[in-house]
Amino acid sequence: MNQETRCGIEGISVAIPKHFIDLGTLAKATGIDPEKFYKGLGGRRMAVVTPLEDPVTLAAEAARTLLDRYRVDPAGVGMVIVGSESGVDAAKPIAAYVHGMLKLAPQCRTFDTQHACYGATAALQMARNWTLRHQGECRKAVVIATDIARYDVGSAGEPTQGAGAVAMLIGTEPEVLTIDSAPDAVYTEDVMDFWRPHYQSTAMVDGKYSLECYLRALEHTYRTYQRTSGLSWDDYRRLLFHVPFPKMAYKAFKLLHELEADRHNGDFPSFEDSYDRLSEPALWANREVGNIYSGSLYLSLAGLLESEGAELESARLGFFSYGSGCCAEFFSGRIGPDSGIWRGRTGISEALEDRVELDYEQYIELRTKTDAMSRNGSFRERVRTNGEHFWFCGVDDHRRIYASASSSAAAKPLATAPSIVAGSPVAVQSPAMQRFS
Ligand code: CAA
Repeated sequence: MNQETRCGIEGISVAIPKHFIDLGTLAKATGIDPEKFYKGLGGRRMAVVTPLEDPVTLAAEAARTLLDRYRVDPAGVGMVIVGSESGVDAAKPIAAYVHGMLKLAPQCRTFDTQHACYGATAALQMARNWTLRHQGECRKAVVIATDIARYDVGSAGEPTQGAGAVAMLIGTEPEVLTIDSAPDAVYTEDVMDFWRPHYQSTAMVDGKYSLECYLRALEHTYRTYQRTSGLSWDDYRRLLFHVPFPKMAYKAFKLLHELEADRHNGDFPSFEDSYDRLSEPALWANREVGNIYSGSLYLSLAGLLESEGAELESARLGFFSYGSGCCAEFFSGRIGPDSGIWRGRTGISEALEDRVELDYEQYIELRTKTDAMSRNGSFRERVRTNGEHFWFCGVDDHRRIYASASSSAAAKPLATAPSIVAGSPVAVQSPAMQRFS
């Protein structure tokens, strides 16, 4: 591997909707054995958005927490790239909305990257190259993965939904993860395994075929990376995969383990021991949240930092990113020397505290209301804010309208109080109550 300036992820922050449905509830309501979802797919719960949340508000929440926590001067952010499958406009990128909501400086490049679940990895690599080119200017890039995974009600994909965003600060003091400088191990194939036409709010998928495409891309990129990076299986302390549902990571690990066992003529540690050690520890947050498409790989990384902290000091991790359609990449990186400090700092723990559980009828009702909110003319009155969050207020004259308010007094550098993007709030009401009214 090349020795060049260290560059990678300096900070990471996660935003997750406060509502969820247990997969057992979904299974029972649709006449399916809950064990199919719990064991067959490996999931437990999935996050559900309210009509006041969308990929923009999730992205802005994650990015604001990132800037607050890592005391980043908004004027020092020179690039914002958002990787998403669930863009809200065919022309205006989510990154432009986020730039406005966070009151970033005008001298900043903003754009979205789209390739299903691979978008954020493309963004990460681009931001890394940009950072290396701008060394010495002390400017940071922010990469945000934000998505709402939605399939039709009653479809096989329904238990693999979820929602959330992961924001990452990219720079040359990568305390979270230094990305290794190795030749690209990427793979593209024009396939129809999963897609979403512009006129649809739910994804189309050729489910079983999508698994085949994922595994084929994994084999190609893994073999390439092993050949070109000089790294081998024993170099990885953990292996993280794109997680459309946790059992997929298990299948991915199984494939790599078989490849390695063949290469070692069977003289290789057993599958179960290796899996429990190398991949299972990264999946707990994905089990709670479900698929967040472009962010799911990075949710695993944040989950791992939260749960294992100091045990991962300077450890090398392998990453497999897959986006249907398809484009995939295998890469690696080293966790920083003080990994113990990340426990409790990624935002996952707070996000998972005090979540509100939905029954099946409430879940269906929220879906219907969420669809209605994205139609032109849905805007009725200013959303009341509780002073800490970004909310989607509806569409007026074909314009999406967002409300935001200053972070709490305790919040630090973002004291440049994000004001109401359009209009003023009319009253204060608990967001949790609004969600069910
Ligand atoms: N108890 C325990 N396990 C059970 C069970 C029961 N009662 N009933 C079934 N199962 C098991 C099955 O044996 C199967 O396990 P294996 O895969 O290990 O054989 C598992 O549950 C799934 O059951 P089915 O094979 O019957 O599959 P399904 O028709 O329910 O569809 C799916 C599964 C294809 C993953 C579907 O959920 C889907 O289409 N999901 C969306 C697409 C997707 O996530 N693709 C992943 C690759 S593409 C990608 O990664 C991009 C992205 O984010 C979308």
